[in-house]
Amino acid sequence: MSSQTTAPAITPDADVDDARPGSPVSPELHRERRIRSFHPRKGRMSTAQYDALARSWDGYGIRVDGRRQLDLDAWFGRADARVVLEIGFGMGDATATMAAAEPDRCVLAVDVHTPGHGNLLRRIESDDLDNVRLAEGDAVVLLRDQLAPESLDGLRIFFPDPWPKARHHKRRLIQPEFVALAVSRLRPGATVHCATDWEPYAEQMLEVLSGSAELANLHTDYAPRPDWRPVTKFERQGLAKGHVVRDVLFRRV
Ligand SMILES: C[S@@+](CC[C@H](N)C(=O)[O-])C[C@H]1O[C@@H](n2cnc3c(N)ncnc32)[C@H](O)[C@@H]1O
Repeated sequence: MSSQTTAPAITPDADVDDARPGSPVSPELHRERRIRSFHPRKGRMSTAQYDALARSWDGYGIRVDGRRQLDLDAWFGRADARVVLEIGFGMGDATATMAAAEPDRCVLAVDVHTPGHGNLLRRIESDDLDNVRLAEGDAVVLLRDQLAPESLDGLRIFFPDPWPKARHHKRRLIQPEFVALAVSRLRPGATVHCATDWEPYAEQMLEVLSGSAELANLHTDYAPRPDWRPVTKFERQGLAKGHVVRDVLFRRV
């Protein structure tokens, strides 16, 4: 990983599409033709987020480059680290709150939304968290190319983009092919926890996860909302629109 001094020059409120130090993504990754589950957007970063990124990215973050498998124990500095992967952490405030409440568990938080990395780093610093690491890029590539089979103790996907238009449904993250990949990275006994405020997506989550022979639903259908899951920004927006929030909770058999 490059040092802070070799990081590309970025300024607060500048576009931060390629602001992370780290090796460039592999050429194969650039050429890959794949339907993406995220919006192609550039972020605007506040001064505080930028400063946290400049101070702490090298210590806590990696760019998803599709090149090397991660040694999670070494990265978290723990023997047999129990790592939960959170996909799409957004601004990361819920991630930081959950990590602070579970110091024995490690959280690898991945998103493509760059200001969130600065914000989560700010929370890591202010809350003195040593159990959170960040990845910037596509979670599908992270799972496929950089995480070993049976290396994770959990998967969290809270309020993934619902892609409500029929022509965009193919962009939803929770699809059989994605679930097969994700499950292969989970240890037996690991949990898969998803939440959404978009009812048709909740039904899809239940159907797709139930369709995996390697997952068992821990509830008859939807799970009760756990009180340890903080209300996220997107959840708050959904609740303000009168949406019903659904949690689904499965275990890798
Ligand atoms: C609707 S937001 C929810 C954010 C947060 N969980 C919350 O509830 O406030 C979905 C997030 O997932 C991220 N995302 C979507 N597909 C992704 C992928 N394949 N890899 C990494 N992040 C992804 C988006 O960038 C976005 O930040």
